[in-house]
Amino acid sequence: MIRLDGVSKVYRVSDPGETAKKDLHALKSVSLEIENGSIYGIIGRSGAGKSTLIRCVNLLERPSSGRVFIGGVEMTALDDAKLRAARRKIGMIFQSFNLLANRTVSGNIAFPLELDRWTKREITDRVREIARLVGIEDKLGQYPSQLSGGQKQRVGIARALANRPDVLLSDEATSALDPQTTKSVLGLLRDINEKLGLTVVLITHEMEVIKEICDSVAVLDAGEVVEEGPVLKVFTTPVKGVTKELLAQVMKTQLPDSFAGLKFTHERGSRQADILLQVSFFGDVTASPIISGLVRNFDADVNILVAHIDHIRATPCGTLVIQLSGPDREDALEYLLDMNLKVEVIGYVARSDGTAR
Ligand SMILES: Nc1ncnc2c1ncn2[C@@H]1O[C@H](COP(=O)(O)OP(=O)(O)OP(=O)(O)O)[C@@H](O)[C@H]1O
Ligand SMILES: [Mg+2]
Repeated sequence: MIRLDGVSKVYRVSDPGETAKKDLHALKSVSLEIENGSIYGIIGRSGAGKSTLIRCVNLLERPSSGRVFIGGVEMTALDDAKLRAARRKIGMIFQSFNLLANRTVSGNIAFPLELDRWTKREITDRVREIARLVGIEDKLGQYPSQLSGGQKQRVGIARALANRPDVLLSDEATSALDPQTTKSVLGLLRDINEKLGLTVVLITHEMEVIKEICDSVAVLDAGEVVEEGPVLKVFTTPVKGVTKELLAQVMKTQLPDSFAGLKFTHERGSRQADILLQVSFFGDVTASPIISGLVRNFDADVNILVAHIDHIRATPCGTLVIQLSGPDREDALEYLLDMNLKVEVIGYVARSDGTAR
């Protein structure tokens, strides 16, 4: 398990034109637990502190305060020599691949093993084995400049995994890749995670990536973890504004443009107002019985504005944005609220024809 216990990072920075330095609080008392063998995502706006956080895990960045544990070892308490040894159990991959241009693929993968003083024979065998695992065994003699982005990242992954780490850290590793290549690299990460039982911590601005392969996710905002938990929970029932904002696109819950012009209020009570609400469901629950139940039981009209069914890993989940009108609309709302669904009243809109019903 990876455990961060009240980790803070303060940088001393100087503003251009000013002589005095000031403190920049990049991380503010971050506490997290990451289960062994899981894939853990970190999301947040640019500058939220994601890279700083992941660099604090392998102590590329030393926390200003707080403690980092990996597999029971307190990383923050190790001296330099012990830290170097402990770091070998942590691989890292980057957006820019960071390959050595003057070494072949084979030489790149071998590099950490040479540092680790493996024998020539062991290195040759391991390079071959790991290259096969990531699907680049036919590229071993080539140089990075001769490879595609996806192939370069596979080399990056092979190098990171060469000396059998327990943890793989990934900072925007798929951000420079096209969607198809991203998919195949993600498939590879998932595959490795399952085959080797490796713990993966990844930063991404692509919510699709989180949805597709992560088990849990943390939302970082201005250096603080503001929301955290299983992806299914966080993505279907986000609580914080920043999370909703990050997810709006991928969960496709934004209202259609035609609603932008409507008189919209969060105040209840106008007798003319229709109710706009968002219904989220996942697992076995599906949309159609919900809607037919409403229409059958109440004198209410249901207008579906947004309907979206999606998958988080293998679990189907969906979102409906509906407009409820008609005399029984408040009762219909109660009925929905009583069901085992996540129902959120977005607001009330005046009926477009202005009539009360
Ligand atoms: N070495 C450094 N010295 C001074 N300030 C730094 C340093 N590294 C990061 N920062 C600051 O810390 C804050 C967090 O930076 P960080 O790189 O962790 O953000 P991020 O969430 O990874 O952003 P992005 O999505 O753009 O990569 C930013 O305000 C950044 O300017
Ligand atoms: Mg970053």
